[in-house]
Amino acid sequence: MTFGIYYSDYLQLDKILNAQELESEKNGNVAHDEMLFIVTHQAYELWFKQVLYELAAVINVFKDPVIEDKKMGQVIHHLSRIKSIQRVLIQQIDIIETMTPLDFMEFRDLLVPASGFQSVQFKQIEIQLGIKREHRINADKEFFHSRLSASDYQALEELEGQKSLLELTDSWLGRMPFLKFNEFRFWEAYDQAVNKMLDSDSEIIRGNPTLSEREKEFQLNGLEMSRAQFESLLDREKFEELRKAGEFRLSHEGFLAALFINLYRDEPMLYTPFRYLTLLLDIDEMFTNWRQRHAMMVQRMLGAKIGTGGSSGHNYLNATTRQNRAFLDLFKLSTFLIPREDRPVLPDELRRGLGFFFHGENH
Ligand code: HEM
Repeated sequence: MTFGIYYSDYLQLDKILNAQELESEKNGNVAHDEMLFIVTHQAYELWFKQVLYELAAVINVFKDPVIEDKKMGQVIHHLSRIKSIQRVLIQQIDIIETMTPLDFMEFRDLLVPASGFQSVQFKQIEIQLGIKREHRINADKEFFHSRLSASDYQALEELEGQKSLLELTDSWLGRMPFLKFNEFRFWEAYDQAVNKMLDSDSEIIRGNPTLSEREKEFQLNGLEMSRAQFESLLDREKFEELRKAGEFRLSHEGFLAALFINLYRDEPMLYTPFRYLTLLLDIDEMFTNWRQRHAMMVQRMLGAKIGTGGSSGHNYLNATTRQNRAFLDLFKLSTFLIPREDRPVLPDELRRGLGFFFHGENH
């Protein structure tokens, strides 16, 4: 009897299911939980593979100088899938946490110097999203050099030379035609709206009978700091200075376009770009959630011990949750939002411009 294509052949299960070699078994003393440790890491690597596959499809669309509307639909689909996978990646930590620190100690020393540091696919995801060498914390920069094989290091270095999703998104945002239409008038109107909002906030603070003079001064100072932030947003040179200091990664045009999309996301033409930016923000947040869960799990497993890869363990991982972020700029947009009713009314010409939204500068 012939079967045609056969389940285990199709999935190459002979390879996958025979790829668990316990170091503790080789050592003559099987540690039961090492199987769980290997299978969990392998499951992660398979999901990383799928994430990279989806990411490659998104990057491919964004490399195109002209992005058709229907392709944006596919992009949203790929990114939503990445987000669903990330949910599973976070949950999987529950499974590894069923291993107790004492059980882990039965085989941990046999793993030195291997470490999650050497997960090339994890680094690929980081790099392709937009976390490049200069954005990493110092320890990570150093380990990046010293912990990877020559061929892995070279492959990642080549990847760093290519445009990340963050950079491609920035160019796409910068190409948005509405920034060229009436740019001056719109941002001037926005500036006036911001000042009106801040002046009214200032009056509310001054007139608040429940605040002492010291409290009022404190709050008014905070308000002036907000005013200064808005000023640096609208002043290209100041923005560039902050960008050089690492405050922003998007270009001035890119950041303003992202802000515009967030302010006017109720306009039908801006809804898909808004969903796209929100998904990037979600993915960044989910990644950070995974890092936090992993760091907590490591603290519970190792306490203050160093990692098998030689980092400070929990402390190092905690620092990466703050620093190793691809789309932090999208979180900063909220600083510059103003209430719906205070937004400048869009001129007709600009509204017509929105009709050419995805066609870039060549059309
Ligand atoms: C008992 C379970 C685990 C422990 C104790 C642990 C511990 C650590 C430690 C201490 C580090 C910092 C580098 C070092 O010094 O080695 C690290 C990094 C890492 N681990 Fe784990 N880990 C565990 C499970 C996992 C799992 C299941 C994954 C899934 C793939 C994973 C992925 C990673 C990655 C990607 C890094 C690099 C993170 C970065 O540099 O930002 N780990 N791990």
